[in-house]
Amino acid sequence: MSSERDFNDVIMGLAKKRGFFWGPSPEIYGGSSGFYDLGPLGKLLKNRLENAIRSSFVKANFWEVECPTVSPEAVWKASGHLDGFIDPVTQCTKCEQVFRADNLIIEQSPDAQIAGQTVDQLTETIKKLGIVCPACKSLLGPVETYNLMMKTRLGLVQDAYLRPETATSTYLLFKRFLTFFRDKLPMMVFQIGKAYRNEISPRQGMLRLREFTQTEGQIFILEEDEQNWPQYDSIKTVELPLLSNIAQQKGSTQPVRMKISDAIKKGHFQKPAYAWCVYLAYSIFRGMGFSEEKLRLRQHLKTEMAHYAQDAWDLEIQTQSFGWVECCGIHDRGNYDLTRHQEFSNEKMSVSVNKQPVIPNVLEIAFGIERPLFCLIDNSFQPESEARDTDWLQFPPEVAPIQVAVFPLMGKDELLQPAREIYDSIIDVGFITQFDVGGSIGKRYRRQDEVGTPFCVTIDYTTLEDGTVTIRDRDSMNQIRVHKDDIIQVLRRLIRRSVLFDSLK
Ligand code: GLY
Repeated sequence: MSSERDFNDVIMGLAKKRGFFWGPSPEIYGGSSGFYDLGPLGKLLKNRLENAIRSSFVKANFWEVECPTVSPEAVWKASGHLDGFIDPVTQCTKCEQVFRADNLIIEQSPDAQIAGQTVDQLTETIKKLGIVCPACKSLLGPVETYNLMMKTRLGLVQDAYLRPETATSTYLLFKRFLTFFRDKLPMMVFQIGKAYRNEISPRQGMLRLREFTQTEGQIFILEEDEQNWPQYDSIKTVELPLLSNIAQQKGSTQPVRMKISDAIKKGHFQKPAYAWCVYLAYSIFRGMGFSEEKLRLRQHLKTEMAHYAQDAWDLEIQTQSFGWVECCGIHDRGNYDLTRHQEFSNEKMSVSVNKQPVIPNVLEIAFGIERPLFCLIDNSFQPESEARDTDWLQFPPEVAPIQVAVFPLMGKDELLQPAREIYDSIIDVGFITQFDVGGSIGKRYRRQDEVGTPFCVTIDYTTLEDGTVTIRDRDSMNQIRVHKDDIIQVLRRLIRRSVLFDSLK
């Protein structure tokens, strides 16, 4: 593959051809950047990732909620998004197209160090580096700020905005949570739902969407609990791949695997509870099937942080399409949000500590699902080779969109009927399973390899004699024979990766 751009074209082509995602949507009207449709396999993959995420949060004792995606303007004044949720933009002085200034600089000058630059500094950088309009190569105008929220109206007169994050809608429930959790902090909740950002000319396919599904976990917590966090003990010796802001300031781009307790000692994390959130984000992404080598945690430079953040780390995934891609933000939001909502709503957002009102802090894990979905396809791609005459997808079995395919060797009644029975029994236990009778068995295996199905079960004439079927492993293309009464438990162990296929041979 000659470049990242070529590889991205391959992934986009594959995603469209095999029904993962299509767009920009609506395609038949020319498409609007930043909107994509999920095809049947993309939707299955997204469901799988959502399930993995949901189960990680629930296991960590978070409760799920769901809030409206539209809120009146007052909410966004209070949250700071009206003033602070902005991107730097520049307009071509000739063709008048508008671009995101920071992205344009990095595209044309990948080594430019622009993190945290003000609009005036970005204007200077554009001049100094000779950055020009990518469309007509003319001079660009001064960099200005642009608010990313999508505006709408409630009824005839009330201005409102589509939420740019689920977080704020979660914070509005703080008083309700106090009742639900019987006034006991910390309170841990999460949302999975749509969010909207009116990105300027998004040009990175699924990585920069105007409408996307966000997952955000929130912990409402008192300062003393942030320091005395009971779950910390069980994770303090875990090693994480960390790229601190100190390391970045010294020019490093490589993460260092470091025990969480050492990261605290070195001052990379100030609070054990926050360190645990960074660990939880990392383990959620491991649970989605990403391998250790493809993940790193990068601390934000002070100048990069969102308007609400006191500390922030990004979880990034290494891709062949775009290099390191930011996929999740872990934010120490302090008591910024609840303080603002108390001030603007005149509702009490405090709890009583030693008879004094205290506004709790918030720790947050925030990410969109479409980015990891894209990265998983990117990371799973395997090119055709001598052994296999097609590109294929090596999805981790636990998140593969189709987990099992069932084939009768031939479309004859004596094989079709037992194959149907086996298919029903597998689908009944909850595996996403596809039944396929079309074409030679080789072609059917190849079709499943192309969409990343880890295991194929074939019913043949031996099945009629001794009740065994073959299970074929996508990665090795090896097969084992298993009695039909044992298929479910063998598949379960293989899909959970509690047993290796080759050890069953
Ligand atoms: N809630 C933080 C974010 O949207 O990144």
